[in-house]
Amino acid sequence: MTSKVYSTLPRQYYISEQIFREETQRIFYERWVCVGRVEQIPNPGDYFAQQIGSESLIIVRTRNNGIRAHYNVCRHRGARLCGNKALGHFREAIQCPYHAWTYGLDGKLIGAPHMNEVPDFKKEDYPLHSAHVHTWEGFIFVSLAHEPQPFDSLLAELSDKFAAWQITKLRSVHRIEYEVQANWKLLVENYSECYHCPLVHPALSKLSPYESGENDFVKGVFLGGYMELTHGSMTLDGAVCVTPLSAVSGEDLNRVYYYMLFPNLLLSLHPDYVMFHTLWPQSPDRTYITCEWLFDPAVMAQPDFDPSPAVEFWDMTNREDWHVCEITQEGVGSRVYTPGPAYVGQEDLIAAFDQEVLKALGHPVLN
Ligand code: FES
Ligand SMILES: [Fe+2]
Repeated sequence: MTSKVYSTLPRQYYISEQIFREETQRIFYERWVCVGRVEQIPNPGDYFAQQIGSESLIIVRTRNNGIRAHYNVCRHRGARLCGNKALGHFREAIQCPYHAWTYGLDGKLIGAPHMNEVPDFKKEDYPLHSAHVHTWEGFIFVSLAHEPQPFDSLLAELSDKFAAWQITKLRSVHRIEYEVQANWKLLVENYSECYHCPLVHPALSKLSPYESGENDFVKGVFLGGYMELTHGSMTLDGAVCVTPLSAVSGEDLNRVYYYMLFPNLLLSLHPDYVMFHTLWPQSPDRTYITCEWLFDPAVMAQPDFDPSPAVEFWDMTNREDWHVCEITQEGVGSRVYTPGPAYVGQEDLIAAFDQEVLKALGHPVLN
């Protein structure tokens, strides 16, 4: 008996403006999108802005220590309240730079010069539009859906799988932003297999055999598994760059775990640190990516703390990946391109991810 061989998505999914618009609407405006870390806004008034599709959101820490996401759109004549990539601190409130309408950190309109002269004007009718916010393991997720799927139901099967890494407590030591000339799905697909590793990542392949490991989440919005480490971690020389995280033990000391949380978070857990990427599609053939490295604050406080072996290793590996994604984008755009068969066992997660994309778009599922 032969099982059917999977092929990746048809060419138009990587080049079509129409499908890109559908993805923005059905995926990035509907699903829970990871926008960053709680630690970016530790104090009331701290904020950052993040663009999702063509929407700009202000993620802010409120007076009562909650986190809110407001659309970056003034309720008067629509001006942006801050730049699309702004990061900073609102002293008391959020003031529009146009006519000085002023909003509390919770989004309520609290000041609107002269508007008391306008008949029937009531400030409570004009709060900032808001989006849903959820935090998980120190990550902030935002959903622009009216009624998003409850976040916890998405990860119910996960239970306390990552408890040993205590990701909530970790802190970012470094962030790199990349711009890649490739469709966002090519980047996820590339992250989901190591068939390419021997040729593309000679350094990585010495630290983690490409055929090692196993996938444990193979269907749904959370996908991934582990690979074995032959040395101590994923760093320039393969040694751990700091002592492994205190609760990571047993076989986890010899593994690196790679997961993707649909649609835009890639989470990589090492014995001594956690790395994550977020993906931000800009057009069918262009994606912004952030990459951050999280460490235990206790080891960060040590005088000889040096995360650079981890940062430099992954920065090099990231660039190797972006390059093959870019040459793939170019080739996929050719009129003669049709998807080839996948290598069973190494490319299975790609099939699962592609199905999730099609499901979210309401398109017929392949194969
Ligand atoms: S547009 Fe914001 S106060 Fe007028
Ligand atoms: Fe890679």
